[in-house]
Amino acid sequence: MFRAKIAGIGHYVPDQVITNHDLEKMMETSDEWIRERTGIMERRWVKEDENNVDMAEKASLRALDQAKLKAEDIDFIIFATLSPDYFFPGTGCLLQERLKLPTIGALDVRNQCSGFIYGLAIADQFIKTGMYKNILLVGSEVQSRGIDKSTKGRDVAVIFGDGAGAAIISRSDDETKGILTSHLHAQGKYAKELWGEDPGSVKEPRISHEIVDSGSIWPHMNGKQVFKNAVTRFPQVILEAFQAAGLDKNEVDLVIPHQANQRITDAVRMRLDLREEQVYSNIAKYGNTTAASIPIAISEAIEEGRIKDGSLVCLAAFGSGFTWASSLIRF
Ligand SMILES: CC(C)(COP(=O)(O)OP(=O)(O)OC[C@H]1O[C@@H](n2cnc3c(N)ncnc32)[C@H](O)[C@@H]1OP(=O)(O)O)[C@@H](O)C(=O)NCCC(=O)NCCS
Repeated sequence: MFRAKIAGIGHYVPDQVITNHDLEKMMETSDEWIRERTGIMERRWVKEDENNVDMAEKASLRALDQAKLKAEDIDFIIFATLSPDYFFPGTGCLLQERLKLPTIGALDVRNQCSGFIYGLAIADQFIKTGMYKNILLVGSEVQSRGIDKSTKGRDVAVIFGDGAGAAIISRSDDETKGILTSHLHAQGKYAKELWGEDPGSVKEPRISHEIVDSGSIWPHMNGKQVFKNAVTRFPQVILEAFQAAGLDKNEVDLVIPHQANQRITDAVRMRLDLREEQVYSNIAKYGNTTAASIPIAISEAIEEGRIKDGSLVCLAAFGSGFTWASSLIRF
């Protein structure tokens, strides 16, 4: 068996900054409410000429550059998103064409906020068995076109943002480094607590004026239920990873939680009794970018020198599904 490592990582966020004060002009909300409940100060939104694949391409080129690889070195693409450019084909195929890659496989992963860790676990298995050497793993989201920007949709609209992160997962020659363990969970019983009902194949036609007018095209979130489950599942799955790796949680250099909400991150940190500097947060700048939030955070943590050679890093996510997941990595 081989070991897989993150050989390079990059991120891209749109230039357009949307502050809480900008949102105050669109809906009944306030900077104070948003900061207090979520810790978010601003987020990025794409402009008309920018799509999911455009952000993914930019993040991928940065990741390739850091890994010192060329696009043709990539053997496989894994693309995590809940906001694909089209219902089908998957955005992974669009990215393959953009990067002028040969006929390598491209897999789209639909696990929302846990999508990047699900993708990482899939990549890890392909590398371990020797099937592939270099995999491009992307998390990219255009949330701004899928939220109700009126007062009716404010509970969801203020939380989410756009952005992309990409990682090159490669075979490692160093046995002591790389992805140590990954843990994936789901509980479909809570599917409707955080979901996008329409358009879907339950209705014929999938989309109509009636469906649009009913408002079911906008995401629905039971905030309290999400919060309650998140603060339980995050610590559980983080501890599961440490136990599987035979390591103590206090050895962690950095926990990178999916940037769901600062209050969730703070509650998880307190439950795990970790110091503030052991838990990464950039939600104030970007909001919740779903599958993109973890790779953006890893990329920034490396730039800031908070992840160094030898650092023990724990990734953890929770989101729609419900799904939750963790991964422990020695850099
Ligand atoms: C969404 C969340 C911040 C709401 O906080 P809360 O304390 O549960 O707030 P409530 O839902 O009780 O709403 C309180 C009031 O604020 C209002 N409100 C909701 N969104 C608002 C907004 N953006 N601005 C102003 N007021 C808002 C509600 O309408 C409600 O008003 P009411 O009391 O007159 O009915 C909180 O539930 C949460 O953090 N949930 C987790 C969300 C999350 O992380 N999602 C992503 C997971 S991947």
